[in-house]
Amino acid sequence: MSARPLLNRRLAGMGTTIFAEMSALAVATGAINLGQGFPDTDGPESVREAAVRALRDGRGNQYPPGPGVPELRTAISEHQQRFHGLGFDPDTEVLVTAGATEAIAAAMLALLEPGDEVIAFEPFYDSYAACIAMAGGVRVPLTLPAPAFRPDLDALRAAVTPRTRLLLLNSPHNPTGTVLTREELTAIAALAVEHDLLVVTDEVYEHLVFDGTHIPLISLPGMRDRTVSISSAGKTFSFTGWKVGWVTGAAPLVAAVRTAKQFLTYVASGPFQYAVAEALALPDTYYADFRDDLLAKRDLLAAGLTDAGFQVYVPQGTYFITTDIAELAPGLDALTFCRALPERCGVVAVPNSVFYDHPTAGRTQVRFAFCKRETVLTEAASRLRKAFSG
Ligand SMILES: Cc1ncc(COP(=O)(O)O)c(C=O)c1O
Repeated sequence: MSARPLLNRRLAGMGTTIFAEMSALAVATGAINLGQGFPDTDGPESVREAAVRALRDGRGNQYPPGPGVPELRTAISEHQQRFHGLGFDPDTEVLVTAGATEAIAAAMLALLEPGDEVIAFEPFYDSYAACIAMAGGVRVPLTLPAPAFRPDLDALRAAVTPRTRLLLLNSPHNPTGTVLTREELTAIAALAVEHDLLVVTDEVYEHLVFDGTHIPLISLPGMRDRTVSISSAGKTFSFTGWKVGWVTGAAPLVAAVRTAKQFLTYVASGPFQYAVAEALALPDTYYADFRDDLLAKRDLLAAGLTDAGFQVYVPQGTYFITTDIAELAPGLDALTFCRALPERCGVVAVPNSVFYDHPTAGRTQVRFAFCKRETVLTEAASRLRKAFSG
């Protein structure tokens, strides 16, 4: 064997995702897992039944159509109309993917040339760095500074160079919970138009907004033909294992993303696509109840973490709370803290520091997921309180 590393240079250092490491730790120690963002209860029974029906009726058990089954593409289009007043042609402007993860990967692989710069706000979801790298792009991180985690629009403007191809945005934002305002989005849109940039928007938490409103960037003037809008059923319907995501956008952009996507998975999640089509058509009460449930859980965990001595940054959206441990655990960095936490008190969290390029930016930030049953959150809060505030 040559001395050359097996893993190529683009992925060097990316190792195992923090979620895998921390979830394995949760299993090994029997700790409560508030690390990875998956709910501990499944989504609506009627949607599960729809998946069973599709399986039994032989719908989707063989390769579904490459762009997604027509029922789901129509349902996605109707959902965009119903919630955001946006019209998309189900045949040419909608693409079903294997979760938002594949949509992000396919968008990067389709739209970037090697050397193209991609601006993204850090801390970012960990697949962004990998997908930009796999496409040969160069990521340009801009820090969302604590405590407010608002984008610095002057810094954004200054970061644009002749090599900038694309902005990769996430709102509601994991892990900070920031929901971009209309003013911020308007400024970002103006910049994209001025510099002829493409924008990929990750909107998987679009239905989890507690303060503010989710405004799809693609709805703003000048953005319809330059935005690839991404969402997913995993978060909204609590079926993260089904991996049904989608892309909406102008036909040429969707066609470009489809070209890359067809050589990644080609298709995925056949019977689940039919079930998600039914899920998207659930009445408004489903969406309202889902949000209200998570809002109550946000407040429960935020209060518990505050009691335990964490500095809590209350999120406007998503199902994550970012905290700071600088006062609680002086001198400790977030990764060391999180690795020791399960042993110390039987709770797993993840260090935000791994979501930053800047080595010191999130050094003492720790993220907790609150998409868990109330009894679980109460128990976790009680363990943390006992461990840290006596
Ligand atoms: C910001 C963000 N984007 C994308 C994903 C992945 O979505 P999916 O499970 O649909 O691939 C997640 C999951 O945690 C996320 O937090």
